[in-house]
Amino acid sequence: MKPNEITQRDIENWTRCTPMKQQCHPVEDIAAQAISDGIDVSDAHQLFETIAAKSRLADLGEQSSALAHELRQPLFSISVANENLRMMLGRCDITKPQLDKAIARIAQQVERAQTIIDRTLAYASGNSRGEVSADIGLAASNAVEFLRPLFETADIEIDDHGAHVHANVSLCQVETEQVFVNILRNAAESIESRRESGWQGAGHIAIRIALHEGAVRCVVSDNGAGLSGDTARAVFQPFFTTKPRVGTGLGLHICRRVLEKAGGVVTLVPDETEGARVEIELPLGG
Ligand SMILES: Nc1ncnc2c1ncn2[C@@H]1O[C@H](COP(=O)(O)OP(=O)(O)O)[C@@H](O)[C@H]1O
Ligand SMILES: [Mg+2]
Repeated sequence: MKPNEITQRDIENWTRCTPMKQQCHPVEDIAAQAISDGIDVSDAHQLFETIAAKSRLADLGEQSSALAHELRQPLFSISVANENLRMMLGRCDITKPQLDKAIARIAQQVERAQTIIDRTLAYASGNSRGEVSADIGLAASNAVEFLRPLFETADIEIDDHGAHVHANVSLCQVETEQVFVNILRNAAESIESRRESGWQGAGHIAIRIALHEGAVRCVVSDNGAGLSGDTARAVFQPFFTTKPRVGTGLGLHICRRVLEKAGGVVTLVPDETEGARVEIELPLGG
């Protein structure tokens, strides 16, 4: 078992999630901080939506190589299938079912490319078509796929075998994916930061989702640099960051705001062994 692997017992012995009341921070937090930073804010909700949209666009900017990588695969398959088809047409022993099969292969790959583009555009625009139901397991795996090139470049192993649980929660799919993108990106950044201080171990992130008494519990753990108790208490405050050059300090704040809409709670704690773990609890619904 890997040092930061999450067991079923961890999910069941869920003690760290503090009650919603204590976790609640109004959206005005973000406006208050913005005002104290000299930004004129007349509508806090509008401000939050703007920040969330900007965060998604920043993700996309950074992830343009991921999009290129994802689209390359179906395009390559289409060109191979097209070449096969061309060769088949030059032969006289080819049957109609064989031709149909080759054409279907191309259509399948076009559909796959279309899905990738739709998913990316939906993520960029935050367009959820009014849905209030998200599949949390699907959101986790879409986020992993979205970030996969980043994990490959950074040589980080992702264990999402424990995340293949289909459970609906009262959120929109894109927002739920954004929660996982933020959390997974933080985990990867923490592993990179540990490496910058000389650590040479294998980077590892695990996602586990389980159902528990009408709620869904999700743990994302990493073996990165970890964090102190003081830092853990501050991480959900808007603009709190320990990444001087690159941090916005908004990722976790956005996560908490999104999850609270569905009655959820989220905590970030140092792991007992190494690294850190994010724990999410959401009522089933949607
Ligand atoms: N997996 C993690 N391990 C250690 N620290 C973390 C982790 N995730 C978040 N943090 C801490 O929480 C802070 C706030 O995170 P976030 O709101 O995403 O903003 P940012 O990533 O821009 O700093 C980070 O700067 C970091 O100190
Ligand atoms: Mg972040």
